[in-house]
Amino acid sequence: MRIRTLSEYQVAYKKSVETPELFWDEIASNFQWKKKWDKTLDWNFTEPNVKWFVNGKLNITENCIDTHLETQPDKIAIIWEPNEIGEEFKTFTYRQLYHEVCTMANVLKNLGVKKGDRVCIYLPMIPELAFAVLACARIGAVHSVVFAGFSSSAIADRLIDAKAEFIITSDGMSRGPKAMNIKEIVDGALDKVDFIKKILVINRMNSIVNMVAERDVWYHDANQGVSDECPAEEMDSEDMLFILYTSGSTGKPKGVVHTCGGYMVYSAYTFANVFQYEPDEIHWCTADIGWVTGHSYIIYGPLANGATTLMFEGIPTYPEVDRFWSVCDKHQVNIFYTAPTAIRSLMAYGAEPVDKHNLSSLKKLGSVGEPINEEAYHWFERHVGKGRCPVVDTWWQTETGGIMITTMAGVTESPASFAGYPMPGIQPSLVTPEGKPIEGNDVEGYLCIDYPWPSVLRTTYGDHERCRINYFATYQNKYFTGDGVYRDKDGRYRIIGRVDDVINVSGHRFGTAEIENAIDENPAVIETAVVGYPHDIKGQGIYAFVILESHAEASDDTKKSIIDTLVKEIGPIAKPDKIQFVPGLPKTRSGKIMRRILRKIAEGDTANLGDITTLIDPSIVDLIRIAAI
Ligand code: WTA
Repeated sequence: MRIRTLSEYQVAYKKSVETPELFWDEIASNFQWKKKWDKTLDWNFTEPNVKWFVNGKLNITENCIDTHLETQPDKIAIIWEPNEIGEEFKTFTYRQLYHEVCTMANVLKNLGVKKGDRVCIYLPMIPELAFAVLACARIGAVHSVVFAGFSSSAIADRLIDAKAEFIITSDGMSRGPKAMNIKEIVDGALDKVDFIKKILVINRMNSIVNMVAERDVWYHDANQGVSDECPAEEMDSEDMLFILYTSGSTGKPKGVVHTCGGYMVYSAYTFANVFQYEPDEIHWCTADIGWVTGHSYIIYGPLANGATTLMFEGIPTYPEVDRFWSVCDKHQVNIFYTAPTAIRSLMAYGAEPVDKHNLSSLKKLGSVGEPINEEAYHWFERHVGKGRCPVVDTWWQTETGGIMITTMAGVTESPASFAGYPMPGIQPSLVTPEGKPIEGNDVEGYLCIDYPWPSVLRTTYGDHERCRINYFATYQNKYFTGDGVYRDKDGRYRIIGRVDDVINVSGHRFGTAEIENAIDENPAVIETAVVGYPHDIKGQGIYAFVILESHAEASDDTKKSIIDTLVKEIGPIAKPDKIQFVPGLPKTRSGKIMRRILRKIAEGDTANLGDITTLIDPSIVDLIRIAAI
């Protein structure tokens, strides 16, 4: 399963393309299955219908926990670093993790959670978040983690879509200098949701919260006298493991579905190879478990490899801007995997906060979530890695479940700003916007994947047609990523960015329609058009063009109220960077907003707006342009 040299990579890649089933068969055989699969792969990209390791039976937690009890029960599985430096960090060995997960699994069972039930998890980055995810997997419940930064309204949408009757949350959380009562946020979601059976509440802050009798249960009460052994439910390879909501170019966020067998194999395989994980290495992925990166590379990938994984509750700049580096030093981190936004924002403070700490334990660095610009890449490599750590720029998506295009640390190499080569098993192809194949090298196009890999999304929860239309219908027999890409003369890939109406703000995905719909909820607003524009720190910023009702004033107060609406509808992460009040929007005769023009205006490139003659009212463009921020 391990690739250690460039030539091994080449051999593995060739084999994965020529005999994909044999290739994955061998890799999957390294895991613990309750029953072996009958057939490695069944697939078509038209319905789509993809099944890996057909009729295989397993439980992912046996592979993430139980297996290691035989070989390394006392090895630390999770290191937890709290938000406050004054608070003690915690560690959990594989044996302790086993008992924590089994206890929570039994508590969930006692609350009535059954195999196949959806459980919404809305928690800060505390150890119980990892336990909760694994406890669900242990009993075959489907976890749907919602990032604890989304608003009540966003939680309600996700609860309704997933028909989740159970919630796991906490009394509160602190992230950086801010403390929040998140139970209240969950309660706020329940105005619109009347089918919640139980809410399990973790005590993190000792705060006083509203507990509804019969429905709300403290975890520290519910776990009294509960066994810390819980047999692992037998799951089919294709049973759902989790739902994770992500934004697309249309409508509300959709619930991407991953299943047990394929996701396990691919997240574990990529973790081992991309980071060239060695036993005893300490791996720190700074993502939140509310995002796919946290699922695959804080929890499942590292634990399936028996690694030590670090979870951090706080933010990079609290209490000081050197927190990341002080944590690396304190816990002797070997693999450090973070996002370009974090690097760019920390770069602004110079090298001094980094140099204060001993970072000699670092061996490998990684980047994920958005394109990394050369300056950030070099700063990361030079100041954090001291020029001796390979940097892997890993391209992938919520829908892909694991890393797809990347270099592997010390095995393959790519210039800065290039993700690099496809992982074994990944068959990328380029097409023109119209779908014409683009062959050869030194070419640019829309990125598709031509063949299934074990952790490709299986569906979007409750709406398979939406999955087909979004990912498999744009180009026949291809999974369409939504990203534009350049392939250089050596076959390496450089991700250019989204080519659809998805904006990537600090590595967080938003659909323009999602933000527009939220802004339109404000009573002062008639219509909105949102585009992304280049932002030095965030990668992309949100620029909103807003038409106001005649009674509304084009004032800072109205802007503030629009921001408040967004925070209420989606959460603070969706705050727009710029709001411009406009008398109208550039629309074609069929009523479509010409975003291309708005994008140019937002970028400040107003000299070259292209053809605007197809607009109903071309004069509106000048009015918007002159007043652009
Ligand atoms: C972008 C995060 C360039 C891309 C794992 C993709 C990247 C979207 C990279 C998925 C990278 C992610 N280089 N762009 N290394 N990694 N992206 O679903 O546009 O939150 O489509 O998954 O982020 O975001 P998601």
